[in-house]
Amino acid sequence: MTTDPTRITLRRPDDWHVHLRDGDMLAAVAPYTARQFARAIVMPNLDPPVTNVAAALAYRDRILAALPAGADFTPLMTCYLTDEAEPRVLADGFECGAFAAAKLYPAHATTNSAYGVTAIRNIHPALEEMERIGMPLLIHGEVTDPEVDIFDREKAFIDRIFSGLVRDFPGLKTVFEHITTAEAADFVTASGPNLAATITPHHLAINRNAMFAGGIRPHAYCLPVAKREAHRLAVRRAATSGSPQFFLGTDSAPHAVARKEAACGCAGIFSAPFAIESYARTFEEEGALDRLEAFASENGPHFYGLPLNEGSITLERAEVEVPESLSAGGSSLVPFHAGETLGWRLVGGAAEI
Ligand code: DOR
Ligand code: ZN
Repeated sequence: MTTDPTRITLRRPDDWHVHLRDGDMLAAVAPYTARQFARAIVMPNLDPPVTNVAAALAYRDRILAALPAGADFTPLMTCYLTDEAEPRVLADGFECGAFAAAKLYPAHATTNSAYGVTAIRNIHPALEEMERIGMPLLIHGEVTDPEVDIFDREKAFIDRIFSGLVRDFPGLKTVFEHITTAEAADFVTASGPNLAATITPHHLAINRNAMFAGGIRPHAYCLPVAKREAHRLAVRRAATSGSPQFFLGTDSAPHAVARKEAACGCAGIFSAPFAIESYARTFEEEGALDRLEAFASENGPHFYGLPLNEGSITLERAEVEVPESLSAGGSSLVPFHAGETLGWRLVGGAAEI
């Protein structure tokens, strides 16, 4: 990696958590991810969800077909865990390369999670098999108990479920996805090298006030919901600490504008278009640009046991105006940072098309 006041060149990064959707939306959003990232862990929360090898391979083909000609991008597919998850299906899918990991959504925690897991003991046989074969488990770590305050759902998940899981499956490679709290950052650090966490650009950049700045701001609403400032600062410290347990995962989650700006708006921030620029801004603000490459391009592959990418990307210092909206298959999407000016531009990246 090289940095000077005007240019940063780093090994090509990967996105370890992205929602690419399907159909017209997939065609609209996949190019933004492929332009920056060499690989991405693709979330399986389609409707119906991706729960078997055939569905994962078919979805992978649709993603590849949606890429611009000449794109150099590898989707890494995941299996959506249900109460009926079969150890054999997971093992076969992992061993043939169809699944890079399996995703645990607590039932009703978020978008298309109705088929998710209703009690962790229901998937113990699956987890035993995954631990045995080295297949990573990716967790949306929030309880769904409506009695628990929405801002406490991540912490409650650690206390009620995650601590026991780490104790019962010490050899299971687990990713605590999109962490948002100091408690999660501390829990990951304390649990040792089989537990890692992804961190989104938006949880590094905004706190919960962003959802209520002068009125209700649906484009700042995602799950887990942004927390108070002290948590944002703790998550920034984790991301920029240099610890190999933290790595890049955008959780880019596009929803058409009409589904965001609604009486009951969908959760999700479309962070893909300017993701690497956003991370660069955070790392620069923290005086940690020299640690961006480890976070974006090294820690993830090391955790997953995959090779580092060979290519590189370059960011140059330039004022980049983030559009208020982007068109997407007959609808439009509001990108993260809409209307703001960012200080780094990906050479050959979204801002140049
Ligand atoms: O904000 C979110 N959106 N959080 C999730 O966990 C799911 C995602 C989506 O798929 O829309
Ligand atoms: Zn997600």
